[in-house]
Amino acid sequence: PQIHRLLQHSHFCKQITKALVKTPIPTTTTSTRTKSLRLPSQSLFNKTVALMFSKRSTRTRLASETSASLLGGRALFLGKEDVQVGVNESVRDTARVVGGMCEGVFARVGGHEEIEELAKYSPVPVINALSSLWHPTQILADLLTLHEHAHEFNPKTQKGVGAGTPADAGKNPNPYPTSVRLTVAYVGDSANVLHDMLVTYPRLGHQLRVASPEKYRAPPEVWRRVEELGCDKGIWWGSDPREAVKGADVVVTDTWISMGQEAEKAQRLQDFAGYQVTEALCREGGANPDWKFMHCLPRKQDEVDDEVFYGPRSIVFPEADNRKWTIMATFDLLIGKWNIDIPKGEA
Ligand code: CP
Ligand code: NVA
Repeated sequence: PQIHRLLQHSHFCKQITKALVKTPIPTTTTSTRTKSLRLPSQSLFNKTVALMFSKRSTRTRLASETSASLLGGRALFLGKEDVQVGVNESVRDTARVVGGMCEGVFARVGGHEEIEELAKYSPVPVINALSSLWHPTQILADLLTLHEHAHEFNPKTQKGVGAGTPADAGKNPNPYPTSVRLTVAYVGDSANVLHDMLVTYPRLGHQLRVASPEKYRAPPEVWRRVEELGCDKGIWWGSDPREAVKGADVVVTDTWISMGQEAEKAQRLQDFAGYQVTEALCREGGANPDWKFMHCLPRKQDEVDDEVFYGPRSIVFPEADNRKWTIMATFDLLIGKWNIDIPKGEA
């Protein structure tokens, strides 16, 4: 229910903001347009979200800064060169100090234990903006994108599923389809993005088919969480990319060399040979002829060729745009309103 709520709210944030930016600035105070102008929630008014990023970011940072200002607040970027943490100060002390001056923390860290430590000592909410193990906000954007494109995966079987099509959007003020069930294949490295797919997609009724070389199997702490959540039943795991894409409505991959793994580049390029997502791979493996392609970005040609990445199957840029609306919804609900009782129907 929490995931659905975040997704529904993301959809709402997107609609309201898109309408707002299209509305011309009223020239007089009596303009009739002012009456119909709806602002997004201003739950961050006078509030600051600290962006504690110890790794690079394009999408996550852009999404955070732009959405915090739409919510009436600000995002304060604290890169690893800007603050004392990790050099002159402990995570524990930093958590207390940042939480004394800001109303929320969005943190991109190296080892996952760093964000656990931050959350343990922070007096305000801490949200994971990417760690060695997880990338939860990416998966919210991916799910929103999947549901928005659901009608394109297989027009015959998805017809009548309800919502998701532009026509449905006109009829239904909140056309987020929760009944769509897809087969999602992931081909490549078992890293943070995949780990969050493993603990999320099966809970929403999607089947996950993963191919990764033997030695890159997800670590035990990820499998523990997968089992705790009962997601194991919805996952097929193997090392043959052709088998993984069988019946896939969507094919997903990520870089083979995540941030911090640069020294392993040569070995990884060798280990992942044959895992590049291509038209030929998906045709030979028997993917749904209408399959779509997703990637969290940034992308390298190693894991997906240009034909797929820039071709009509690719929904990577709508996926990137959706980082904004899902992060906006997350900030609104988990930082702006985290200690407020939200009246029913308002979030
Ligand atoms: N997908 C993603 O997290 O991108 P950035 O590293 O650019 O934020
Ligand atoms: N797995 C990648 C994701 C980047 C958004 C990394 O951690 O670098």
